[in-house]
Amino acid sequence: MSSVVLGVGGGIAAYKAAEILRRLSESGHRVTVVPTAAALKFVGAPTWEALSGRPVSTDVFTSVPEVPHVSIGQAADLVVVAPATADLLAKAAHGLADDLLTNTLLTARCPVVMAPAMHTEMWEHPATQANVATLRSRGVVVIEPAVGRLTGKDSGKGRLPDPADIVDAAMAVLERGAHGGADLADVRLLVSAGGTREYLDPVRYLGNRSSGRQGVAVAQAAASRGAKVTLVAANVAIPVPAGIDVVRVETTVELHDAMLERSAAADVVVMAAAPADFRPASTARTKIKKNDAGAVPDVTLVQNPDILRDLVQRRGDAAAPLIVGFAAETGDDEGGVLDHARAKLARKGTDYLVVNDVSEGKAFDRAENEVVILGSDGSAVEIPYGPKIAVAHAICDTIARRMDKG
Ligand code: CTP
Repeated sequence: MSSVVLGVGGGIAAYKAAEILRRLSESGHRVTVVPTAAALKFVGAPTWEALSGRPVSTDVFTSVPEVPHVSIGQAADLVVVAPATADLLAKAAHGLADDLLTNTLLTARCPVVMAPAMHTEMWEHPATQANVATLRSRGVVVIEPAVGRLTGKDSGKGRLPDPADIVDAAMAVLERGAHGGADLADVRLLVSAGGTREYLDPVRYLGNRSSGRQGVAVAQAAASRGAKVTLVAANVAIPVPAGIDVVRVETTVELHDAMLERSAAADVVVMAAAPADFRPASTARTKIKKNDAGAVPDVTLVQNPDILRDLVQRRGDAAAPLIVGFAAETGDDEGGVLDHARAKLARKGTDYLVVNDVSEGKAFDRAENEVVILGSDGSAVEIPYGPKIAVAHAICDTIARRMDKG
């Protein structure tokens, strides 16, 4: 059983923290709720005491003999702050300690996860962004707010992510432990996922079976390790966890432009998407009609840009970003899977190639994967068959090791 501190800030989303508390308690954790005084204006102490079964206070002058301003933080295995207001982020970033929660944040030596919630203007303010950057650079996992309905009639970025997503992110951090919990803090990671669609007309397209699971898992793993993640999702139907900025695209050209545009501001780029190599030379503006005489349309294909090649080319001689490609390979008379993969790594000029053996009918859209991570330095790390999230963490391990060296 782990000791979790649930810090609750004074925002309207404080009521959602009751659901976070319930989920944490039901998963067997001992939860101490530390609300701020402002949080109690939204949800009163009796609610927190009843749900946690433990006393609740906001200031450092209650139960003084137990020295709660030090003991709560020291005993914690994880601190989760939700909602984290702009004020709380500022206090945490600057080490202010004027109540029990901010004292706890200063005394905790365990991983800290903060889930901000505020109006878009407050989130986007340079002061808040600087505070978030400071916290992330210290290893605090600051979850990106969701986009959606805010208090009143407003909507935009700043909404508290779903309680279930916050708990998932917090549990991932807890599982990784105090050390290495945020080993990708400060790292800006750009990852693509999914399969592109190349339209013949407004309703028909050439596509592929990529589900986006592996790319989404990389995004999730990196975010849980403190990275600031942007996911460029090509027709990804599976849910994307909280804490990740998502850019939706459909075609290879859109994916190309989205990745190239953002690669300069990334420390690591991971191309897990399956972009189509070809697209119809033209897309009909209206639905192509069936012909009674049985004539079928001629489809001429043209080549799509090679996104990895262009990413490598744009980087030129610069050290960043680190570029990771994926390859699905089969062995043949000319060589085994790894021979082909080595050749592809050299051809593409990436730093790593995550190789999938797709011989023997191993299909897309599975929850598991088995890969070898080839490095341009000649390294080869075999990742045994397991869930895609485990493979994603293995990829993050490789990235973290490499970033440390740099
Ligand atoms: N990729 C890309 N742009 C494309 C096609 C693929 O960036 N137009 C990326 C994929 O995201 C993946 C890697 O290239 O990371 C390998 O994809 P693969 O289809 O195996 O590579 P190809 O260059 O198409 O190789 P092949 O000669 O085997 O077709």
